[in-house]
Formats: sequence, structure tokens, C-alpha cells
Amino acid sequence: MSRIVTLGLFAVLALPVAAAAQTPTFTKDIAPIFQNKCEACHRPDSIAPMSLVSFEEARPWARSIKARVAARQMPPWHIDPTIGITEFENDRSLSDKEIATIVKWVDAGSPKGDAKDMPAPKVWPNEQGWNFAKQFGQKEPDMVIKSLPWTQKAGANDAWWKPVVETHLTEPRWVRALEIRPSSVKGRRITHHAIARLQQRETDPLAQNPDDANGQPQPGTFMEWAVGKQGEMMRPNSGKLMLPGSKIVWDIHYSNGGEDITDTVELGIYFYPKGQEPKFRQVLHLMGGTGGTGVGALGSALDLPPNTIKATEGYFLMRENGRVESFQPHMHLRGKAMTLEAILPNGQSQVISHVADFNFNWHNTYVYKETAAPLLPKGTIIKVTAWHDNTTANKANPDPNVWVGYGDRTVDEMAHAWVNVTYMNDTDYRVAIEERRKAVSTTTAAQQQQ
Ligand code: HEC
Repeated sequence: MSRIVTLGLFAVLALPVAAAAQTPTFTKDIAPIFQNKCEACHRPDSIAPMSLVSFEEARPWARSIKARVAARQMPPWHIDPTIGITEFENDRSLSDKEIATIVKWVDAGSPKGDAKDMPAPKVWPNEQGWNFAKQFGQKEPDMVIKSLPWTQKAGANDAWWKPVVETHLTEPRWVRALEIRPSSVKGRRITHHAIARLQQRETDPLAQNPDDANGQPQPGTFMEWAVGKQGEMMRPNSGKLMLPGSKIVWDIHYSNGGEDITDTVELGIYFYPKGQEPKFRQVLHLMGGTGGTGVGALGSALDLPPNTIKATEGYFLMRENGRVESFQPHMHLRGKAMTLEAILPNGQSQVISHVADFNFNWHNTYVYKETAAPLLPKGTIIKVTAWHDNTTANKANPDPNVWVGYGDRTVDEMAHAWVNVTYMNDTDYRVAIEERRKAVSTTTAAQQQQ
């Protein structure tokens, strides 16, 4: 009898103690994660609907936080982390451990914890400045291109603003860095993301993209801005080439800012000094693709009957050796998933990346770490498989009962990837492969010594 009582007592006393030791608290366990992975957007004057800086601000959202985080919808990062290349320069996703901690915190009633555990507030850089200018010893970028003003009315639906602006460039220039910023602090509240596309007529066949449906050169993503990312520095000795007559085609996603706000977006361009040409040209390719004319028409046509899920395939031939630097899937509201795959000249095929849960609201570019970016020999075929879901299962679908085909409007579809490639001749390619081999064998040796 006494034994049972002891056991009972033991259970009552010991369990809460053990559980308390493991219950994550806001100040100790959650705030550091939110500072690193959420505050970029979830802080005052940024794009997300609520701030997650303090416990008091975050607490009412606990249930929603658990749901979004467990489903990997927040932070927005939609690449499947278990397939293909797994190392990215701009990875903002949560680790499995971080997700488990957040879920556990919410399940335990989202306790605040001890105030003295709270980390110092995260200090955010002044995003209204030009951050690269100082590094290059200048006050301003070499060229600043502004979009045309847009007014986002309080409470209005999301809008996509696409003004076209001439660069007035009179000679070819090599770009070494790019920055984008909304022009005002208030503008940050409505600027969900901004893409600056570069439209120019290429003469180098390696750099050509298919024309669009109107016979104009397809404007390729030049630089893309989203909260938390302001600039893009080219890899060493590489650059993008801007040609005379080029234009910037803006694609800016505005959302509700709670009051009428008028703003523009600015693109700052830094050039390599004249005469100092980088060795490698980075070329942004449209791969896959189902519309337009020329090479882009190679893909099977987009044809989505009502209430169906369909896949399309498109192919891209690498006419020179290269390193694939980044992947940005491009679909519209019915877009569901996309796979990028390399079919090597020896017939072997390897999946490079798979986006399993595409979301039109987030035009993420997945940038591979330089040490992980795939090196592919000329003759490789890159296959882009895109899935579209025109059924009710797709929450973003505005109408599953209509036929959908290729087109510019968000209610039409597209199915291509923007892929940045650094091309290399045979000698440079061999050097790059050799360096990669050495890096891999040193890492393996180091791991084995551990
Ligand atoms: C790149 C910007 C960005 C980052 C980083 C980000 N969010 Fe968000 N979040 C948003 C935006 C914008 C929305 C509103 C639109 C939407 O729901 O997608 C949102 C919505 C949410 C919502 C839904 C709110 C509601 O209305 O119920 C939750 C919850 C959330 N975020 C939690 C998080 C958490 C937790 C993190 C970090 C682990 C995070 N977010 C990181 C931009 C971001």
C-alpha cells in the first residue's frame, strides 16, 4: 500500500518538474529564433501584418504561428530541403529543431519565461541607405533607376505594378553589384516584393532568351528585392552585362499598408570600372517555358482544363560548361510544384532542386552556395517539370471551373524557371571541378578525423 502511495506521490511531484525543465519559454528559446528568422518581416514598418518582436506582440498569434511554422509556410521558403542541392546562400527556413521548439512552446501554453533571459533587441541596419556604396568608396551607386509612383489605397487588394523605364545606357557596362530599396520608410509597409527585369537585345547566342509573345526580348530577372534582402554582389570575377538600349521592366507587388501610401522603388547599379572586365559572365536563362516564340516554344503547351492537375516539361541545352548559381520557379496562381533536373551528356540524370509547395506570393530565388552550386559540362540538358493544380484543392485557385492557358495575367499561367548560369571554357571548367574535388576530399577527411 505504502508503495503505491509513494509511486503516486513520485508521479505527482516529479512530472511537472521534468516537464518544466523542457518547456521552451519566449524569452529564452523563442525570441532568438524570431529575431533570426522572423523579425526581418515581422517588425514595425515592415511587410508582415504583425510584429513578433516582444512577447506581448507575439502571444496572441501563438496558434497561427504553430500552424504556419509546422506546415513550413513561414518563413516563406518553399524548396524541399531533402532533395538535390541542400546548401543555399539565402536560406531563411527553420531547422527541424527550431520548428519542434516553437510547436512545443505553443503546446505548453506559450509561456513568457524569465525576463532576464530575453536577448538584447536585434539592431537592424539602416535600410534607407545604399549599403554597398561605402564598400566601393562612393556615396551613391553608379546608376539609380526609379520605378514610376504607385499609390496603394488603404485596404485595397494586392496590386502588381509593371512600369517600364529606360536605362539610357550608351555603351555596354559590366555590373558588379545591385541594390534595391523602396524609396521611403512608409513604402516598406506596402512593398511586398519588387523584381527589376533587364530587357535587352542580346547578340551573344549563349545569352539569348526566347522572345515573349509580342516578339520582344524576354526581360530576365536582374535583381529581386524582398524584405530582408537588399543587395546582390556578383561572385568574384563575375558580372552581368548591361547593353545600350536596355530597359528595366519592373514587377512590383504592393499590398495593404493600412493607409494610403504612395511610393516608388529604386534600383542602384554598381559597375566594374571601365576596362576592368570580369572574366565570367553570369547569364540569366529562362528554362522550360511553354509560351512565346523561338526556343521557349520547345516546352509542351500549357493547357489546363477545369478541375485537373497537369504537368508540363521544358528543356534547356547547355551549349557551354557552366555553374548553375540559382533557381527561381515562375508560375502563377495555379502553380503547384517545380523540379529542376540535369540530364548529363552520359545519360545520367540528377535532380538539382524541387519546390514542392509553390506559392505565387513569394517569388523566392534559391541561391546555391558557391561550393555546392552544380558544375555541369556542355551538352547537359536541363529539364524543368512544372505541375499546375486547377482544382479546389489549390487554395490560391480563383476559379477551378475555367480553362487556363499561357499568358501574362496572374489568372493565366506560366511554367518556367529563371536560372543564373556562369559559363566557363574547358580550361576554367576543369579548374573549377578540380577545386571542388579538393574541397570535398578535405571536408570528408576533416569529418573523418572528428
Ligand atoms: C520574408 C518575410 C517574412 C518572414 C521572414 C516571415 N514572415 Fe510571417 N508573414 C509574412 C507576411 C507578408 C505575412 C502575411 C501574408 C501571408 O499570410 O502570407 C505573414 C504571415 C504570417 C502569419 C499569419 C498571420 C495571420 O494572419 O494569421 C504567421 C503566423 C507568421 N507569418 C509567422 C511567422 C514566423 C513565426 C516567422 C519566423 C519563424 C515568419 N512568419 C517569418 C512575412 C514573413
